[in-house]
Amino acid sequence: MNPIEQSLNENKLKLIIEKMGHLHHIRDINALLDSILYETRKITNADSGSIFLVDNDKLRFSYVQNDTLFKNDLLCNKYIYSNQEIEINSSSLAGFVAQKGEPLQIEDAYNIDDSLPFQFNVYFDEISSYKTKSIFVAPLITSEREVVGILELINAKDNEGNVISFSEEHKLFVMQFTNQAAVAIERALMLQNIVLRMIQIAELRDPEETQGHVNRVGAISIELYQKWAEKHHVPKNEVNRYKDILRIASILHDVGKVGIPDHILKKNGKLTPEEYHEMKRHTIYGARLFSEKKNDWEKLALEISLNHHEKWDGSGYPGKIEDFSLEEYEFGTGKKGNEIPLSARIVALADVFDALINKRAYKDPWEEDKVLYHLKSESGKHFDPELVDIFFEIYSVVKAIQNKWQQ
Ligand SMILES: [Fe+2]
Ligand SMILES: [Fe+2]
Repeated sequence: MNPIEQSLNENKLKLIIEKMGHLHHIRDINALLDSILYETRKITNADSGSIFLVDNDKLRFSYVQNDTLFKNDLLCNKYIYSNQEIEINSSSLAGFVAQKGEPLQIEDAYNIDDSLPFQFNVYFDEISSYKTKSIFVAPLITSEREVVGILELINAKDNEGNVISFSEEHKLFVMQFTNQAAVAIERALMLQNIVLRMIQIAELRDPEETQGHVNRVGAISIELYQKWAEKHHVPKNEVNRYKDILRIASILHDVGKVGIPDHILKKNGKLTPEEYHEMKRHTIYGARLFSEKKNDWEKLALEISLNHHEKWDGSGYPGKIEDFSLEEYEFGTGKKGNEIPLSARIVALADVFDALINKRAYKDPWEEDKVLYHLKSESGKHFDPELVDIFFEIYSVVKAIQNKWQQ
């Protein structure tokens, strides 16, 4: 290696180390996978890539990026919510790498050495008219030597855009990066599990707040925000930072219901005005749970818990309250329009949509047309009209989300 190459390499390495440090600040699993794919594709100049995570002895498709196919985010985001699973065995590239825990490089997907036990799965190329050639698959291994998933990079490119093989240097850099990535993934999954555990506890009390419901509300909220941010020219790193905490915070929107007595929460039939008033207090109880505001996702969780039943036209609750930590307080005048934080406007829409379109103990699912008509007619009343428009723009992604997390 000549001195110029050496210093280029050193700079690259420094950059990678810097990026690896950054991974540890990301808490949301999807935000983390997005960042891992983005950085490893940048290192190798790979056109596309995906990540599969180990889930109950299988590999579950978890994230994808593809510069050629997904020129717009909408298409890509639809794919992200697909439910694909691969067995962990030697019949597929991904399964083989997860089983062996060793990286694998393929020069030409359509010309795989006969001595190898697997063939390239042409399904995705065929449905998408994509042409896969070079592939590099790296296992994601934690410091305890546990495989948590695999990272697959496809079609490395030279500066002229020609597809080339992954170089030794590429592989070393990616392996270096994925070692750190696996630790960050493990941590993000741990946080996700803690949050879902909290939901499970809440679910015991309130059977409506199922894991399916909260996961769908979380995902729809992220998608609404992403489109909103695009329209408002929010810088990419701010979008990523906010998306990172929005999922966790929106998943916890109704966790304050743990403070509502069972005879109200589980009542069959209509609540009396007094009971309904008590039920409304779940917004306050939720806010109190996060009132220590130790970190930015707790701040956002407070904002969402408190405000997700406010309405755009000011007719929602709990309204402006001077100090909700006091034992005695009155509900205030409803917050209106932009007085309601964006996060809560987003969750309000996602939450109502999801409750209507799915079955609940007290109601059958509404017909899709009826739900969409309801959202439209409540635009500017219950919901922020701009968000309702965005909702319809991203509706194909919303449907993919509904499919991924069924009841
Ligand atoms: Fe609620
Ligand atoms: Fe909800």
